[in-house]
Amino acid sequence: MHVAVALMRMGFRVATFDLDRRQRSLTRYINNRETAVRRSGVALPQSTHWDPLVFAISDGSSRPEEQLAIALQQARDGHDFVVADCPGNDTLLARQAHMMADLLVTPINDSLVDLDVLAELDGETYRAGRPGIYARTVWEQRQLRLEHTHKGLDWVVLRNRLSNLADRNKLMMAEVLKDLSGELGFRVAAGFAERVVYRQLFLAGLTVMDLDEPAFAVEPTKSYVAARDEMRELIRFLWLPGLDGRLERI
Ligand SMILES: Nc1ncnc2c1ncn2[C@@H]1O[C@H](COP(=O)(O)OP(=O)(O)OP(=O)(O)O)[C@@H](O)[C@H]1O
Ligand SMILES: [Mg+2]
Repeated sequence: MHVAVALMRMGFRVATFDLDRRQRSLTRYINNRETAVRRSGVALPQSTHWDPLVFAISDGSSRPEEQLAIALQQARDGHDFVVADCPGNDTLLARQAHMMADLLVTPINDSLVDLDVLAELDGETYRAGRPGIYARTVWEQRQLRLEHTHKGLDWVVLRNRLSNLADRNKLMMAEVLKDLSGELGFRVAAGFAERVVYRQLFLAGLTVMDLDEPAFAVEPTKSYVAARDEMRELIRFLWLPGLDGRLERI
C-alpha cells in the first residue's frame, strides 16, 4: 500500500492487484481509503484496483491464473506501474504474478525464524544449506520467466520490524542476508523499523505519505518523519524507471 501510494504521489498512474484471496488486506485498505475520500472530501490519489475475488475459481473457459495474466497485461496499458500484493502462502495466482514481475520486493520480519523461508541455516555455523521454501518458488518462477520472456527478475529483500536494539539476532540477520544475497540473487534494502505509525493508518486508509494533507492534520512526530524517510529510501533503492526528480514529491 505504501509503495503504491508513494508512486501515485510521485505522479505515476498505478494499478494495484490484491492476490490474497483469503485475507484481502490490500483491498480492505483501499476500501478504507475510498471511505476516507468520501467522508473528508479530500481527493486522495487512488489506484485502479483488482480485488482477488474477480479471479474466479473457474469461469468455465479459463483458469484463475490465466485470467490474472490477461488482467496484468491489460493493466500495463494506461498505467505506469502495476503493484501486486502476494499472499504468504504458495498459490497459483502468486506464482503467475512472480513470473510476470520485473521487480520482486520481499519484506521479511527481522528474525531467524522468518529467514528460514529463504534458506535453511546451520544452527552452529549459521551457514546457509538448502534454499528455503520461498527461495525455491522464486527460483522456479524466475526460470519460467527466463524461458518465456528472456527477461530477468530484480529481487529486493528487506528486513521489517527492526528493533532499536543491536542484539545478536539483528547483527546475525545482517550478516546472513549479505551472504545469501549472492547465492540466491537478491539485493538487500535498508528496511523498516517497528513503528506504531504503520499500524495506525489502516482503518483510515492512509499512508505516511498522506499525512501532509491539512484535512488529516497529524502531528509530524519523529516516528512519522523517520517512517517517511524509510519509505523514500526504499523507493530510491528499487531503481524504478522514470524516477528522476520525483523523489522530492514524497
Ligand atoms: N514496521 C512495522 N511496524 C509496526 N507494525 C508493522 C510493521 N510492518 C507491518 N506491521 C503490521 O503488521 C501487520 C502485518 O503486516 P503486513 O500486512 O505488512 O504483513 P504481511 O507480511 O503482508 O502478512 P501476510 O503474510 O499475512 O500477508 C499489520 O498489522 C501491519 O500494520
Ligand atoms: Mg500480506
